[in-house]
Amino acid sequence: MIKQLEELRQNALQELGSISNTKELESWRVRYLGRKSELTKVLRSLATLPPDERKAVGAYANEVKAYLEDSLRQKGQVLQEAQLGVFAKKEAIDITLPGHPFPIGRLHPITQTLYEICDIFVSMGFQVVEGPEVEWDYYNFEALNIPEEHPSRDTMSTSWVDFVTDSGVSPMLLRTHTTSVSARIVETMQPPIRVIEPGKVYRYEASDATHTPMFHQIDGLAVDKGITMADLKGTLYEFSRRFFGEDRKVRFRCDYFPFVEPGVEMAIECSVCSGKGCRLCGNTGWIEILGAGMTHPQVLQRGGLDPKVYTSFAFGMGIDRLPMLRYGIDDIRLFYSSDLRFLRQF
Ligand code: DAH
Repeated sequence: MIKQLEELRQNALQELGSISNTKELESWRVRYLGRKSELTKVLRSLATLPPDERKAVGAYANEVKAYLEDSLRQKGQVLQEAQLGVFAKKEAIDITLPGHPFPIGRLHPITQTLYEICDIFVSMGFQVVEGPEVEWDYYNFEALNIPEEHPSRDTMSTSWVDFVTDSGVSPMLLRTHTTSVSARIVETMQPPIRVIEPGKVYRYEASDATHTPMFHQIDGLAVDKGITMADLKGTLYEFSRRFFGEDRKVRFRCDYFPFVEPGVEMAIECSVCSGKGCRLCGNTGWIEILGAGMTHPQVLQRGGLDPKVYTSFAFGMGIDRLPMLRYGIDDIRLFYSSDLRFLRQF
C-alpha cells in the first residue's frame, strides 16, 4: 500500500511539472486531491485495514496529501506570477515602462567644419596629412624662414615645452600653426604634392571673445613643375564657391609671410552687410579668412626640392572663425565650454 502511495506521489509531481495554466492545474487537483481521487479512497478505506497497518498507511497517506497540497499551492503561485509578467516578487520589472533614451552624440561644429573643408580639397585631388602638435622649433620656425631673431616670432606668442638640450636651448614647442606640417612634407614627399593639413595649434594668449590659447587651422600645399599664382587663385576661388556659396565675392591683397613670396591674404565679402560695412567686418565690407602665397624657394630647398625645377603654392586658414561667421556666433569660447545647450544646435 505504501509503495502504491509513493508511486502516486511521483506521478502527481511529474504531471504537475508539465502544467502551464490554471485550468490544467484545477483538473490536476481534482484528479489527485479531489473527493473521488485515489488518495481520498485510500484515506476512506483506512478503517477496513488491520490496526497495525492502518497506523502506518494512515500516517503516510496524510503526509502525501499534505505534500501534494503544498505543491499545488506553490504551483498556483508560480502560474499567477508568470501571468502578471513578474518573475520574482522582490525584483519586479515593469516591462510596460518606456526605456531610458540613449543619448546619441554628434560631431563638434569645429570637427564638422574641418571635415567639410577637407572634403572640398580632397575632391580637388588633395590628400589629408597630419603632423605632431608638439613640434621642433626647426619645423615651426627655422625651416619656414623664421630664424631666432626674426620679428615675426613675436606675433606668435609661443608655448615652449620645458625641455632644455645640453647646449642650453629649448627646441620644442606647441606648434603655432599647421604650416609646420608643410615644412615636414617637403622633406618626406616627392612632387607632385597636393596636401591638406588640418589640426590644433597653440598660442600663449589669454582667452576672450575672439581668442583661445588653442584653436584650429588647415594649411594646404601644392608642389609640382610649373605651378603658378593662377593655380593658387583658382584653387582658392573654387574652395570659396563651395564653402561660402557661388555668389560670394573674393578679394586678394598683398601680404607678408616669411615662407611665401609673393604673399597674399584672401578676404570674402561680409555675410552680414554684403559689403556695405558693419560691426562684424569693422566697416570694411570684407572678412579676411586666410594667408597664402608662392612657397619661398628656400623652404623648398631646405626640404631637398630643387626650386629651379619645382614651384609651389601654399595657404593657411583659421577654422574656428568659419562656423562663427556662418552661424553668427559672437564668442569663440562657446565652442570649448562643453555646454550641450550650445553644441546640440549643430
Ligand atoms: N601660418 C600662417 C599663420 O598662422 C598662415 C599662412 C599664411 C599659412 C600663408 C600659409 C601661407 O601656408 O602660405 O598666420
